[in-house]
Amino acid sequence: MSDNWQHGFYKHGLSERQELLAQARQLGPVGMAELQANATDQHDQFIENYVTDYRLPEGLALNLVVNGKNYTVPMATEEPSVVAAVSNGAQRVAKCGGFEAPVNSRCLVGQVVLDKLENPDRAVTDLLMHKAELLQIANAAHPSMQKRGGGAKDLRIRQVGGFVSIDLLIDVQQAMGANTVNTMAEAVAESLRQSGYDVLVAVLSNLADQSLQTATCTLSLNTLAAPGFTGREVAERIVKLSELAQVDPYRAATHNKGIMNGIDAAVIASGNDWRAIESGAHAYAARDGHYRGLAKWELTTKGLRGELTLPLPVGVVGGSIKLTPQSKLNYQISGISRAEELAMVLASLGLAQNLAALRALATSGIQAGHMKLQYRSLALSVGAEPSEVAPLVAKLTQQKRVDAAVAAQLLKEIQNERKD
Ligand code: HMG
Repeated sequence: MSDNWQHGFYKHGLSERQELLAQARQLGPVGMAELQANATDQHDQFIENYVTDYRLPEGLALNLVVNGKNYTVPMATEEPSVVAAVSNGAQRVAKCGGFEAPVNSRCLVGQVVLDKLENPDRAVTDLLMHKAELLQIANAAHPSMQKRGGGAKDLRIRQVGGFVSIDLLIDVQQAMGANTVNTMAEAVAESLRQSGYDVLVAVLSNLADQSLQTATCTLSLNTLAAPGFTGREVAERIVKLSELAQVDPYRAATHNKGIMNGIDAAVIASGNDWRAIESGAHAYAARDGHYRGLAKWELTTKGLRGELTLPLPVGVVGGSIKLTPQSKLNYQISGISRAEELAMVLASLGLAQNLAALRALATSGIQAGHMKLQYRSLALSVGAEPSEVAPLVAKLTQQKRVDAAVAAQLLKEIQNERKD
């Protein structure tokens, strides 16, 4: 079959799209049944060329105590040991009083960038003189936000290269707010065009440095001890790993990947835009021109102190948040009702994840804990049926060296034993 089926694919109804795809890619009755079983009419309204749902496992981060409240946080991820690591770090911190995360003011940044300026300095002066008017234009484009106490609150002007960027600082209240910001930025852009400026772009910036969230925790040293290591030794090695992530981008990227393992999974389960959170986190990590670890650990007189700060411009309304029954249920599970609260919990969860990863790296290494949990995925990947996973994992944990070939061989043994 030629690829003609792709032309105007989006104009067909869901079942027609599934049939066209199944025919074009010869998916057969099993493939077609899979597409149908996982599709929903609701999600057909979410994205284009929709054919089915791609599902992620959801697990719970437990014992995450933030500002004295114990949170249960849904996390959607396919990676083994992420949920266990967050719960492990969180439990350790809970024993020492939990995380502290202050409530911060939050604004999104809407960029309107001017190009081809003969005299950029004069343009900056002119724009600053018209600051109140520009803010008024932005607010008039989305008046309901101002009625709710939000709206365009301020603006800053930056000269970058030959460009001038007007950064609108917009309080979107409880929403994710990307559409609001883009509407306001485009209204300001249109007005500036009418005044003779050449506007290159008007859109939200994902470097949400006006929505920073910090979480801190302090652990007494005895809670960190591990086989073969005193608590102080573990703490000192965690501090060294933290220092390394400040000076070496190679290590910083992995340090931050671990933090985002936890935050992304909870952001996905909260219905927020995790790509926005990812790009903001990494841009913030490189804010001084050098990519660094987002979480830092130091030894104080009270013990090991951790601190994580990153942009968390999340919402609890808007976008696809609470549109699906699962998304609604996740808010019921976490008990989170405000955007500020979600940001505080996410920063704490990221710090818990980092603690667990660094403690593992500082002691037995990552493979010991991580791989044991990974064995279940390995078992499935070599063809184990669900009932064969537990016995195969038990055999794998007794091996000195584990890889797919070893797993496949052990699975064969289990299957032969069952036949006998
Ligand atoms: P453990 O020391 O064997 O745990 O940890 P434990 O048996 O002493 O249990 C303590 C608590 O940990 C439990 O409390 C649970 O909260 C949790 P309890 O329920 O007993 O009251 N816990 C679990 N929760 C759910 N399922 C489990 C489970 N096991 C313990 N199966 C663990 C084992 C794997 C948690 C530990 O070794 C660990 O945290 N390792 C780090 C794993 C990790 O970071 N994984 C992320 C993927 S690796 C990666 O991509 C990031 C990285 O590269 C980042 C970086 O380099 O910085 C590492």
